[in-house]
Amino acid sequence: MAAYAYETHDYDVVVVGAGGAGLRATLGMAEQGLRTACITKVFPTRSHTVAAQGGIAASLSNMGPDNWQWHLYDTVKGSDWLGDTDAMEYLAREAPKAVYELEHYGVPFSRTEEGKIYQRPFGGHTTEFGEGPPVQRTCAAADRTGHAILHTLYGQSLKQKAEFYIEYFALDLIITDGVCTGVVAWKLDDGTMHVFNAKMVVLATGGYGRAYFSATSAHTCTGDGGGMVARAGLPLQDMEFVQFHPTGIYGSGCLITEGARGEGGYLTNSNGERFMERYAPTYKDLASRDVVSRCMTIEIREGRGVGKNGDHIHLHLNHLPPETLHERLPGISESAKIFAGVDVNKEPIPVLPTVHYNMGGIPTNYWGEVLNPQPGNPDAVYPGLMAVGEAGCASVHGANRLGSNSLIDLVVFGRAAAIRAGQTIDRASAIPATNKVEVDRALSRFDAYRHAKGNTPTAELRLEMQKTMQADAAVFRTDKTLAEGCEKMDAIARKMDDLKVSDRSLVWNSDLMETLELANLMPNALATIVAAEARKESRGAHAHEDWPERDDVNWRKHSLAWVDGAKVTLGDRPVHLDPLTKQEDGGIDLKKIAPKARVY
Ligand code: FUM
Repeated sequence: MAAYAYETHDYDVVVVGAGGAGLRATLGMAEQGLRTACITKVFPTRSHTVAAQGGIAASLSNMGPDNWQWHLYDTVKGSDWLGDTDAMEYLAREAPKAVYELEHYGVPFSRTEEGKIYQRPFGGHTTEFGEGPPVQRTCAAADRTGHAILHTLYGQSLKQKAEFYIEYFALDLIITDGVCTGVVAWKLDDGTMHVFNAKMVVLATGGYGRAYFSATSAHTCTGDGGGMVARAGLPLQDMEFVQFHPTGIYGSGCLITEGARGEGGYLTNSNGERFMERYAPTYKDLASRDVVSRCMTIEIREGRGVGKNGDHIHLHLNHLPPETLHERLPGISESAKIFAGVDVNKEPIPVLPTVHYNMGGIPTNYWGEVLNPQPGNPDAVYPGLMAVGEAGCASVHGANRLGSNSLIDLVVFGRAAAIRAGQTIDRASAIPATNKVEVDRALSRFDAYRHAKGNTPTAELRLEMQKTMQADAAVFRTDKTLAEGCEKMDAIARKMDDLKVSDRSLVWNSDLMETLELANLMPNALATIVAAEARKESRGAHAHEDWPERDDVNWRKHSLAWVDGAKVTLGDRPVHLDPLTKQEDGGIDLKKIAPKARVY
């Protein structure tokens, strides 16, 4: 192998990723005086959180009655009873505090007439434990909420003197005697190598939407944290649960926010019928995402899709007042024009369910500490490592995430990780010394990809993976599609040994960068299809046509997947059923959130 010199950097905390969760964790760490570095492969404000449109859920009650217990109920039901009760309670209770903090940091939320934070309805968010009308719980900055949050958190992190390493690609974790002690990174613009030694590494690398062919996710969403964790011998959790957002623009996959339906938009089929009234008589177009995506797919399959091939659905906003579109939905009005050639004031937008979010990820507790489940101790914490945001699985979304519970997950758990690190990091202790063996291992893996001389170009293999995942781990799954998908993905993963990288340069080498990203996508994709094949029930986003019922007796459990090359080993761990707070101390009545049929 070529010899690589490297520069070393010592920090209390290194955060990998600068989206909403990464920046909230970075800010919280720096505020407490921890020496904090944030390393990111893209400029912070270009992280995928910038694309989050509709808003952030918190029971502020600005537009009508609401409370954290109703939010908890909706999240539990949305998760199809797979989320961890303690983590979901933490999310719902801490949400208002986390949003007010954002307001004080300077997020420019839209306002009501009285100057309060504006909140809109979103799918699956209700009142009276699902017995009342939809609630307006989603706090919005027009339809650019993620953009507003990201810019604010970046500015605040700089103010707190967090140090940013921008356009550094994290290659691998450094593991020393079963403890994470840092990360090795490649600086993209000059080709230098960097070793970050730290007492705590926080993975905030986002999801792996780009394992699929059509996704609302940015091309940077390549599951880098999941890839690093899998290589470190740690499991991924609940990977079979992949969310399809009902309204990706047909053809481009570009997101049209659920806020569009929150503001009064609705879906129609080729008969002009508002078909959601048939499937979800109470909440209609504001049923949860998995439900709406399935109904759209059924309409198309049964011949009621729109367009010359009958292969998509119409989203109508043209009945809404132009002022609403202008004030509340300016971004999507522009996207519809650019990506579908549609004037939303006059015509419906052609839409299709599109991969949007990964409920699964790196298992953590509600403090963001990574779990390394052991026989007899499913909640064992892996020292020195945290994961937050879409990279992690706390698990608050279970089998299906509610819209606008993602942005709140980012800030609540980014903040929780900082609180925990503040309690557990010994400021007086020495920063771990460079583990040269581990650094050499990471660099020789890098070098092997850099000089890969096989026959399969990276882009070709990536496309094969994306098409397979799109076809075989889709909105609806069957034993047959999943078995075929596992077989195809096994063959695809084996071709990682036959990659051809043509560019050997160390500077701005997109061929090599995309190869390293593919090496991260691959374990995520493998875990997804293998865990989906194994789960013989339907729950949330995992709609299995041969096993159409939810099976709480056998399957109310988290799946675990250890991925080693093309080999996937499955296991499981129990769902946390206990809340954080007992009812007599002001907690929820557990009868309220007991499993039942999930109808909207
Ligand atoms: O529809 C949206 O605005 C997306 C929000 C979310 O995924 O939470």
